[in-house]
Amino acid sequence: MADILNRFKETDNSVAAAGEKKIKVGIIGTGWIAEAHIIEYLRMPDVEIVAAADLIPGKAEALMAKCGVEGVRFYPNDRAMIDAEDLDAVSICTYNCQHAPCAIYALEHGVNVMLEKPFTVTLDEAIAVMKAEKASGKILTIGFQPRMSANMKKIREIVESGELGDIYYLQAGGGRRGGIPTPFGTSFIEKETAGIGAVGDIGSYSLDMLLGAVGYPKPLTVSGYKSDFFGKDPATYPGHPEYAEKFAVDDFAAAFVRLEGGIILDFRISWDMNMDTAGDALILGTKGGLRIPSTECWNGSFDKPLTVYKNVAGSKVSYTVPLIDDGGDLFYKKLRSFINAVQTGGEATVPSSEIVYNQAIIDGIVKSAELGREVEIVVPEV
Ligand SMILES: NC(=O)c1ccc[n+]([C@@H]2O[C@H](COP(=O)([O-])OP(=O)(O)OC[C@H]3O[C@@H](n4cnc5c(N)ncnc54)[C@H](O)[C@@H]3O)[C@@H](O)[C@H]2O)c1
Repeated sequence: MADILNRFKETDNSVAAAGEKKIKVGIIGTGWIAEAHIIEYLRMPDVEIVAAADLIPGKAEALMAKCGVEGVRFYPNDRAMIDAEDLDAVSICTYNCQHAPCAIYALEHGVNVMLEKPFTVTLDEAIAVMKAEKASGKILTIGFQPRMSANMKKIREIVESGELGDIYYLQAGGGRRGGIPTPFGTSFIEKETAGIGAVGDIGSYSLDMLLGAVGYPKPLTVSGYKSDFFGKDPATYPGHPEYAEKFAVDDFAAAFVRLEGGIILDFRISWDMNMDTAGDALILGTKGGLRIPSTECWNGSFDKPLTVYKNVAGSKVSYTVPLIDDGGDLFYKKLRSFINAVQTGGEATVPSSEIVYNQAIIDGIVKSAELGREVEIVVPEV
């Protein structure tokens, strides 16, 4: 048994030995991303999807049938499912505004939680979830699958190696030219379901990449901006001009953030803009600089290698760090690492203690943009 447990700690891909108790999983919210969770859980012989819940009648049943999963019990919402079942874990795949209430209810009922990103909508919600997590002693991990990518990990490894010296500046890049996510309706763009737009949806990935690289320093102040010029334009939605009326979040955000340790974060993100990309991400240090090619972040990949810039004995030099072929499969790895932590009582792969700072910056950008001035970021202790 001990050998098995140790193996779980060392690798993302191990599975329980035959005869081990299966982990009973429930799926909360059976929309677009739930399918990816179901597909990956089905690859794990030590996991059993026993229940699913969705507010829309028949939706969970239809998705399970599509994925070929049998013997699942269905519920009209998360609470009914958690009350009726004896679950080991849930995947929370609801839209953003339901992340906090679903996570709190599950944790309060002793269920381990894989929570899709972004953590929550507001910082207050994130703190409430963390209090429930602490009281429960259960595992809460946030679904940032790029964390599982060897190339993303390499960014942090380069910083930790000291090759760049002391880091003083981070610049976010990436962003979309035209990519407001409405392929399955309006849950990403309405206030009541999404709560936040690009800043939370893909901005949270960009923040995780850069903050993760430098050890998630605490954010201190933020001067933020957000806009909705494209989201509110009926021409953005061929065939669905009515979506413009429903759009009530941001489609672009920018911010200047001061982090503990004297680090500055120069941030921007976009679902839609008149530009192909906001550029590469940059990490500047006293001994070197790192260029991270413009990336969508969510799939954890770059199409060009990382480049390090140095001054060697007065000569300006640069070199590339070869891309690593790690086989991808990031969604499997993210769910596997969660299940491994549930089985071993191990650490969450993407802990709330880090992502609360990600959420605090998002919250600060929204508040600062609405107030039209810089705001202090105060993150309560949990
Ligand atoms: N990790 C990734 O790569 C990735 C990709 C896409 C979306 N996401 C995240 O996943 C989440 C869901 O996105 P989506 O595109 O699947 O949304 P979606 O709107 O397609 O599906 C959400 C579903 O949740 C259901 N729901 C809401 N509250 C519920 C509750 N209390 N109980 C039961 N069901 C409930 C809704 O009825 C809906 O069917 C979002 O927060 C999004 O940011 C992550």
